[in-house]
Amino acid sequence: MKILFWLPQADASAWLAGLARALPGADLREWQPGDDAPADFAVVWHPPRELFAAPRGLRAVFNLGAGVDAILALEREHPGTLPPDAQLVRLEDSGMAPQMAEYVQHAVLRYLRRFDDYARQQARREWHVLAPHPHETFTVGVLGLGVLGAQVARAVASLGVPVRGFSRSAKTIDGIETFSGELHGPSFDAFLDDVKVLVNLLPATPDTEDVLNAQTFGKLARGAYLVNVARGTHLVEQDLLDALANGTLAAATLDVFRTEPLPQDHPFWQEPRITITPHSSALTLRDEAISQIADKIEALARGETVSGVVHVKRGY
Ligand code: NAP
Ligand code: GLV
Repeated sequence: MKILFWLPQADASAWLAGLARALPGADLREWQPGDDAPADFAVVWHPPRELFAAPRGLRAVFNLGAGVDAILALEREHPGTLPPDAQLVRLEDSGMAPQMAEYVQHAVLRYLRRFDDYARQQARREWHVLAPHPHETFTVGVLGLGVLGAQVARAVASLGVPVRGFSRSAKTIDGIETFSGELHGPSFDAFLDDVKVLVNLLPATPDTEDVLNAQTFGKLARGAYLVNVARGTHLVEQDLLDALANGTLAAATLDVFRTEPLPQDHPFWQEPRITITPHSSALTLRDEAISQIADKIEALARGETVSGVVHVKRGY
Protein backbone atom coordinates (compact mmCIF):
# COMPACT_ATOMS: atom_id res chain seq x y z
CA MET A 1 0.00 0.00 0.00
CA LYS A 2 1.39 3.43 -0.99
CA ILE A 3 0.93 6.43 1.29
CA LEU A 4 1.70 10.08 0.51
CA PHE A 5 2.45 12.46 3.38
CA TRP A 6 2.39 16.28 3.52
CA LEU A 7 2.68 18.51 6.58
CA PRO A 8 4.08 22.00 5.96
CA GLN A 9 6.45 23.63 8.46
CA ALA A 10 7.13 20.44 10.38
CA ASP A 11 9.72 17.71 10.44
CA ALA A 12 8.10 14.99 8.35
CA SER A 13 10.64 12.35 9.43
CA ALA A 14 9.12 11.75 12.90
CA TRP A 15 5.67 11.41 11.34
CA LEU A 16 6.92 9.05 8.61
CA ALA A 17 8.73 6.94 11.23
CA GLY A 18 5.56 6.78 13.35
CA LEU A 19 3.42 5.81 10.36
CA ALA A 20 5.99 3.17 9.38
CA ARG A 21 5.79 1.65 12.89
CA ALA A 22 1.99 1.67 12.81
CA LEU A 23 1.71 0.34 9.25
CA PRO A 24 4.68 -2.00 8.72
CA GLY A 25 5.04 -2.86 5.06
CA ALA A 26 3.44 0.37 3.82
CA ASP A 27 5.37 2.28 1.16
CA LEU A 28 5.50 5.80 2.66
CA ARG A 29 6.82 8.96 1.06
CA GLU A 30 6.73 12.69 1.66
CA TRP A 31 5.13 14.43 -1.32
CA GLN A 32 7.51 16.63 -3.33
CA PRO A 33 6.49 18.99 -6.17
CA GLY A 34 6.46 16.97 -9.39
CA ASP A 35 5.59 13.68 -7.64
CA ASP A 36 2.67 12.31 -9.67
CA ALA A 37 3.21 8.63 -8.91
CA PRO A 38 0.32 6.42 -7.76
CA ALA A 39 -0.74 6.34 -4.09
CA ASP A 40 -3.60 4.67 -2.24
CA PHE A 41 -3.87 7.09 0.67
CA ALA A 42 -2.74 10.65 1.45
CA VAL A 43 -2.14 11.97 4.96
CA VAL A 44 -2.03 15.77 4.77
CA TRP A 45 -2.47 19.16 6.41
CA HIS A 46 -3.05 22.26 4.27
CA PRO A 47 -1.97 20.48 1.06
CA PRO A 48 -1.11 22.44 -2.07
CA ARG A 49 -3.53 21.96 -4.98
CA GLU A 50 -0.75 20.34 -7.05
CA LEU A 51 -0.71 17.33 -4.70
CA PHE A 52 -4.10 16.34 -6.16
CA ALA A 53 -3.30 17.24 -9.79
CA ALA A 54 -2.17 13.76 -10.87
CA PRO A 55 -4.81 11.00 -11.15
CA ARG A 56 -2.88 8.77 -8.74
CA GLY A 57 -5.78 6.53 -7.66
CA LEU A 58 -6.21 7.84 -4.12
CA ARG A 59 -8.85 5.98 -2.08
CA ALA A 60 -8.87 8.32 0.90
CA VAL A 61 -7.34 11.60 2.01
CA PHE A 62 -6.70 11.89 5.77
CA ASN A 63 -6.74 15.43 7.16
CA LEU A 64 -4.30 15.97 10.05
CA GLY A 65 -6.80 18.03 11.98
CA ALA A 66 -10.49 18.25 12.86
CA GLY A 67 -11.26 21.18 10.57
CA VAL A 68 -11.26 20.47 6.84
CA ASP A 69 -11.91 24.07 5.78
CA ALA A 70 -8.51 24.52 4.10
CA ILE A 71 -8.95 21.46 1.86
CA LEU A 72 -12.57 22.28 1.09
CA ALA A 73 -11.63 25.89 0.26
CA LEU A 74 -9.33 24.46 -2.46
CA GLU A 75 -12.27 22.47 -3.80
CA ARG A 76 -14.60 25.49 -3.72
CA GLU A 77 -12.07 27.74 -5.47
CA HIS A 78 -11.06 25.08 -8.00
CA PRO A 79 -13.90 22.56 -8.36
CA GLY A 80 -12.64 19.07 -9.18
CA THR A 81 -9.42 19.44 -7.13
CA LEU A 82 -10.28 16.54 -4.82
CA PRO A 83 -10.26 13.12 -6.49
CA PRO A 84 -13.97 12.27 -6.86
CA ASP A 85 -13.55 8.67 -5.69
CA ALA A 86 -11.47 9.46 -2.60
CA GLN A 87 -13.11 9.87 0.80
CA LEU A 88 -11.98 12.83 2.91
CA VAL A 89 -11.50 11.76 6.54
CA ARG A 90 -10.95 14.21 9.43
CA LEU A 91 -9.40 13.57 12.86
CA GLU A 92 -12.00 12.70 15.48
CA ASP A 93 -10.81 13.95 18.87
CA SER A 94 -7.50 11.99 18.87
CA GLY A 95 -6.49 13.79 22.06
CA MET A 96 -7.83 17.22 21.07
CA ALA A 97 -11.04 17.13 23.14
CA PRO A 98 -9.32 17.09 26.58
CA GLN A 99 -7.08 19.98 25.51
CA MET A 100 -10.08 21.95 24.24
CA ALA A 101 -12.01 21.19 27.43
CA GLU A 102 -9.15 22.50 29.60
CA TYR A 103 -8.78 25.65 27.51
CA VAL A 104 -12.49 26.50 27.63
CA GLN A 105 -12.83 25.59 31.33
CA HIS A 106 -9.92 27.93 32.05
CA ALA A 107 -11.52 30.79 30.10
CA VAL A 108 -14.91 30.28 31.77
CA LEU A 109 -13.40 30.11 35.29
CA ARG A 110 -11.25 33.15 34.60
CA TYR A 111 -14.32 35.22 33.73
CA LEU A 112 -16.57 33.63 36.39
CA ARG A 113 -14.06 34.43 39.18
CA ARG A 114 -13.15 37.80 37.58
CA PHE A 115 -9.44 37.08 37.24
CA ASP A 116 -9.46 39.30 34.13
CA ASP A 117 -10.76 42.26 36.17
CA TYR A 118 -8.27 41.53 38.98
CA ALA A 119 -5.39 41.48 36.44
CA ARG A 120 -6.40 44.96 35.25
CA GLN A 121 -6.69 46.11 38.89
CA GLN A 122 -3.23 44.71 39.65
CA ALA A 123 -1.75 46.68 36.75
CA ARG A 124 -3.13 49.81 38.45
CA ARG A 125 -2.08 48.63 42.00
CA GLU A 126 -5.75 48.66 43.06
CA TRP A 127 -7.14 46.57 45.94
CA HIS A 128 -10.92 46.11 45.62
CA VAL A 129 -12.94 42.98 46.22
CA LEU A 130 -15.29 42.62 43.25
CA ALA A 131 -18.78 41.12 43.48
CA PRO A 132 -18.57 37.58 42.15
CA HIS A 133 -20.73 36.44 39.23
CA PRO A 134 -23.46 34.08 40.51
CA HIS A 135 -23.06 30.56 39.09
CA GLU A 136 -26.81 30.21 38.45
CA THR A 137 -26.91 32.99 35.84
CA PHE A 138 -23.46 32.44 34.35
CA THR A 139 -24.92 30.50 31.42
CA VAL A 140 -22.40 29.12 28.94
CA GLY A 141 -23.58 28.53 25.37
CA VAL A 142 -21.55 26.15 23.21
CA LEU A 143 -22.02 26.64 19.46
CA GLY A 144 -21.46 23.26 17.80
CA LEU A 145 -22.06 19.99 19.64
CA GLY A 146 -19.86 17.74 17.54
CA VAL A 147 -16.88 15.64 18.59
CA LEU A 148 -15.26 18.56 20.44
CA GLY A 149 -18.26 20.73 21.34
CA ALA A 150 -20.13 17.95 23.15
CA GLN A 151 -17.11 17.13 25.33
CA VAL A 152 -16.42 20.80 26.03
CA ALA A 153 -20.07 21.32 27.04
CA ARG A 154 -19.85 18.42 29.53
CA ALA A 155 -16.55 19.67 30.95
CA VAL A 156 -17.94 23.19 31.46
CA ALA A 157 -21.12 21.82 33.08
CA SER A 158 -18.89 20.12 35.68
CA LEU A 159 -17.96 23.63 36.90
CA GLY A 160 -21.51 24.06 38.19
CA VAL A 161 -22.75 26.65 35.70
CA PRO A 162 -25.77 26.17 33.36
CA VAL A 163 -24.69 24.98 29.91
CA ARG A 164 -26.54 25.10 26.60
CA GLY A 165 -25.51 23.80 23.22
CA PHE A 166 -26.53 24.47 19.63
CA SER A 167 -26.17 22.14 16.65
CA ARG A 168 -27.79 21.67 13.27
CA SER A 169 -29.45 18.34 14.17
CA ALA A 170 -31.20 17.63 17.48
CA LYS A 171 -29.05 16.10 20.27
CA THR A 172 -29.57 14.83 23.79
CA ILE A 173 -26.66 15.29 26.20
CA ASP A 174 -27.06 14.70 29.94
CA GLY A 175 -26.91 17.96 31.88
CA ILE A 176 -26.91 20.18 28.78
CA GLU A 177 -29.90 22.14 27.46
CA THR A 178 -29.79 21.54 23.72
CA PHE A 179 -31.11 23.64 20.83
CA SER A 180 -30.99 22.82 17.14
CA GLY A 181 -31.78 24.25 13.74
CA GLU A 182 -30.39 26.80 11.36
CA LEU A 183 -28.13 29.62 12.50
CA HIS A 184 -30.12 32.87 12.71
CA GLY A 185 -33.48 31.05 13.10
CA PRO A 186 -35.80 31.24 16.16
CA SER A 187 -34.09 28.32 17.91
CA PHE A 188 -30.75 30.08 17.55
CA ASP A 189 -32.22 33.21 19.17
CA ALA A 190 -33.62 31.10 22.05
CA PHE A 191 -30.18 29.51 22.49
CA LEU A 192 -28.44 32.93 22.64
CA ASP A 193 -30.93 34.54 25.00
CA ASP A 194 -29.18 35.49 28.27
CA VAL A 195 -26.01 33.49 27.50
CA LYS A 196 -23.12 34.95 29.52
CA VAL A 197 -20.23 33.12 27.79
CA LEU A 198 -20.51 32.17 24.11
CA VAL A 199 -18.06 29.42 23.11
CA ASN A 200 -17.64 28.77 19.38
CA LEU A 201 -16.85 25.23 18.20
CA LEU A 202 -18.52 25.27 14.78
CA PRO A 203 -16.71 24.12 11.65
CA ALA A 204 -15.84 26.86 9.14
CA THR A 205 -18.32 26.48 6.28
CA PRO A 206 -20.12 28.98 4.02
CA ASP A 207 -23.13 28.70 6.41
CA THR A 208 -21.16 29.49 9.55
CA GLU A 209 -18.94 32.30 8.22
CA ASP A 210 -19.34 35.60 10.15
CA VAL A 211 -21.76 34.02 12.67
CA LEU A 212 -20.01 35.89 15.51
CA ASN A 213 -21.32 39.33 14.57
CA ALA A 214 -23.04 42.36 16.11
CA GLN A 215 -26.51 40.81 15.76
CA THR A 216 -25.43 37.64 17.57
CA PHE A 217 -23.62 39.58 20.32
CA GLY A 218 -26.72 41.77 20.85
CA LYS A 219 -28.81 38.72 21.76
CA LEU A 220 -26.51 37.59 24.61
CA ALA A 221 -26.71 38.81 28.20
CA ARG A 222 -25.33 42.35 28.38
CA GLY A 223 -21.59 42.34 29.13
CA ALA A 224 -21.17 38.74 27.90
CA TYR A 225 -17.88 37.02 27.10
CA LEU A 226 -16.78 35.39 23.83
CA VAL A 227 -14.46 32.38 23.49
CA ASN A 228 -13.59 31.56 19.86
CA VAL A 229 -11.64 28.33 19.48
CA ALA A 230 -12.96 27.27 16.06
CA ARG A 231 -11.86 29.47 13.14
CA GLY A 232 -11.13 33.17 12.57
CA THR A 233 -13.60 33.35 9.67
CA HIS A 234 -16.47 32.94 12.16
CA LEU A 235 -15.78 36.35 13.68
CA VAL A 236 -16.56 39.79 12.25
CA GLU A 237 -13.54 41.49 13.82
CA GLN A 238 -14.82 45.10 13.77
CA ASP A 239 -18.10 43.94 15.38
CA LEU A 240 -16.10 42.49 18.28
CA LEU A 241 -14.15 45.73 18.78
CA ASP A 242 -17.41 47.74 18.65
CA ALA A 243 -19.17 45.34 21.08
CA LEU A 244 -16.29 45.70 23.57
CA ALA A 245 -16.35 49.49 23.19
CA ASN A 246 -20.11 49.81 23.77
CA GLY A 247 -20.36 47.25 26.61
CA THR A 248 -22.33 44.60 24.69
CA LEU A 249 -19.37 42.29 25.41
CA ALA A 250 -17.07 42.49 28.44
CA ALA A 251 -14.10 40.49 27.10
CA ALA A 252 -13.05 37.85 24.59
CA THR A 253 -10.59 34.96 24.44
CA LEU A 254 -9.49 34.23 20.89
CA ASP A 255 -7.36 31.30 19.72
CA VAL A 256 -8.02 31.65 15.97
CA PHE A 257 -7.88 34.57 13.56
CA ARG A 258 -8.70 35.47 9.97
CA THR A 259 -4.98 35.94 9.34
CA GLU A 260 -2.55 33.70 11.24
CA PRO A 261 -0.10 34.57 12.66
CA LEU A 262 -2.05 37.63 13.80
CA PRO A 263 -0.36 40.60 12.02
CA GLN A 264 1.82 42.84 14.23
CA ASP A 265 -0.33 45.91 13.53
CA HIS A 266 -3.67 44.19 14.25
CA PRO A 267 -5.89 46.20 16.66
CA PHE A 268 -6.62 43.06 18.77
CA TRP A 269 -3.07 43.25 20.20
CA GLN A 270 -3.87 46.69 21.68
CA GLU A 271 -7.22 45.72 23.27
CA PRO A 272 -6.67 44.69 26.92
CA ARG A 273 -10.03 42.92 27.05
CA ILE A 274 -8.97 40.51 24.31
CA THR A 275 -6.86 37.50 25.32
CA ILE A 276 -4.88 36.03 22.43
CA THR A 277 -3.39 32.55 22.05
CA PRO A 278 -1.65 31.35 18.86
CA HIS A 279 -4.06 28.67 17.57
CA SER A 280 -2.96 26.38 20.37
CA SER A 281 -6.17 25.43 22.18
CA ALA A 282 -6.05 21.84 20.85
CA LEU A 283 -2.94 20.64 19.05
CA THR A 284 -2.78 17.60 16.79
CA LEU A 285 -0.96 14.98 18.87
CA ARG A 286 1.34 12.86 16.70
CA ASP A 287 1.02 9.44 18.31
CA GLU A 288 -2.76 9.68 18.77
CA ALA A 289 -3.31 10.97 15.23
CA ILE A 290 -1.10 8.27 13.67
CA SER A 291 -2.81 5.53 15.64
CA GLN A 292 -6.30 6.71 14.57
CA ILE A 293 -5.31 7.12 10.91
CA ALA A 294 -3.44 3.78 10.75
CA ASP A 295 -6.47 1.96 12.19
CA LYS A 296 -8.70 3.58 9.57
CA ILE A 297 -6.30 2.81 6.70
CA GLU A 298 -6.24 -0.84 7.75
CA ALA A 299 -10.04 -0.89 7.97
CA LEU A 300 -10.41 0.65 4.51
CA ALA A 301 -7.84 -1.82 3.13
CA ARG A 302 -10.04 -4.64 4.51
CA GLY A 303 -13.03 -3.13 2.70
CA GLU A 304 -14.69 -1.82 5.88
CA THR A 305 -16.23 1.60 6.42
CA VAL A 306 -14.74 4.18 8.78
CA SER A 307 -16.13 7.08 10.82
CA GLY A 308 -15.07 10.70 10.40
CA VAL A 309 -15.79 10.84 6.67
CA VAL A 310 -16.48 14.43 5.66
CA HIS A 311 -19.69 15.35 3.87
CA VAL A 312 -18.04 17.52 1.22
CA LYS A 313 -21.18 19.42 0.08
CA ARG A 314 -22.20 20.18 3.71
CA GLY A 315 -18.66 21.40 4.39
CA TYR A 316 -17.76 19.39 7.51
P1 NAP B 1 -17.68 18.32 14.27
O1 NAP B 1 -17.62 17.04 15.01
O2 NAP B 1 -17.85 18.30 12.78
O3 NAP B 1 -18.87 19.17 14.92
C1 NAP B 1 -19.42 20.30 14.31
C2 NAP B 1 -20.68 20.72 15.08
O4 NAP B 1 -21.15 21.95 14.51
C3 NAP B 1 -21.82 19.71 14.95
O5 NAP B 1 -22.54 19.64 16.14
C4 NAP B 1 -22.69 20.32 13.85
O6 NAP B 1 -24.07 19.99 13.94
C5 NAP B 1 -22.52 21.80 14.14
N1 NAP B 1 -22.81 22.60 12.94
C6 NAP B 1 -22.15 22.60 11.76
N2 NAP B 1 -22.72 23.48 10.90
C7 NAP B 1 -23.76 24.03 11.57
C8 NAP B 1 -24.74 25.00 11.23
N3 NAP B 1 -24.75 25.61 10.04
N4 NAP B 1 -25.66 25.32 12.14
C9 NAP B 1 -25.67 24.73 13.35
N5 NAP B 1 -24.76 23.80 13.76
C10 NAP B 1 -23.82 23.47 12.86
O7 NAP B 1 -16.38 19.19 14.54
P2 NAP B 1 -15.38 19.11 15.80
O8 NAP B 1 -14.46 17.98 15.67
O9 NAP B 1 -16.18 19.23 17.04
O10 NAP B 1 -14.54 20.44 15.56
C11 NAP B 1 -15.15 21.71 15.45
C12 NAP B 1 -14.20 22.73 14.88
O11 NAP B 1 -13.22 23.08 15.84
C13 NAP B 1 -13.36 22.24 13.69
O12 NAP B 1 -14.08 22.30 12.48
C14 NAP B 1 -12.18 23.18 13.71
O13 NAP B 1 -12.41 24.29 12.87
C15 NAP B 1 -12.11 23.66 15.16
N6 NAP B 1 -10.87 23.21 15.83
C16 NAP B 1 -10.02 24.16 16.30
C17 NAP B 1 -8.87 23.75 16.95
C18 NAP B 1 -7.92 24.76 17.53
O14 NAP B 1 -6.81 24.43 17.88
N7 NAP B 1 -8.32 26.00 17.67
C19 NAP B 1 -8.58 22.39 17.10
C20 NAP B 1 -9.46 21.47 16.60
C21 NAP B 1 -10.61 21.89 15.96
P3 NAP B 1 -24.56 18.47 13.72
O15 NAP B 1 -24.03 17.71 14.91
O16 NAP B 1 -26.02 18.56 13.72
O17 NAP B 1 -23.94 18.03 12.42
C1 GLV C 1 -7.06 22.58 14.24
O1 GLV C 1 -7.33 23.73 14.14
C2 GLV C 1 -7.86 21.51 13.74
O2 GLV C 1 -8.79 21.77 12.98
O3 GLV C 1 -7.57 20.35 14.10
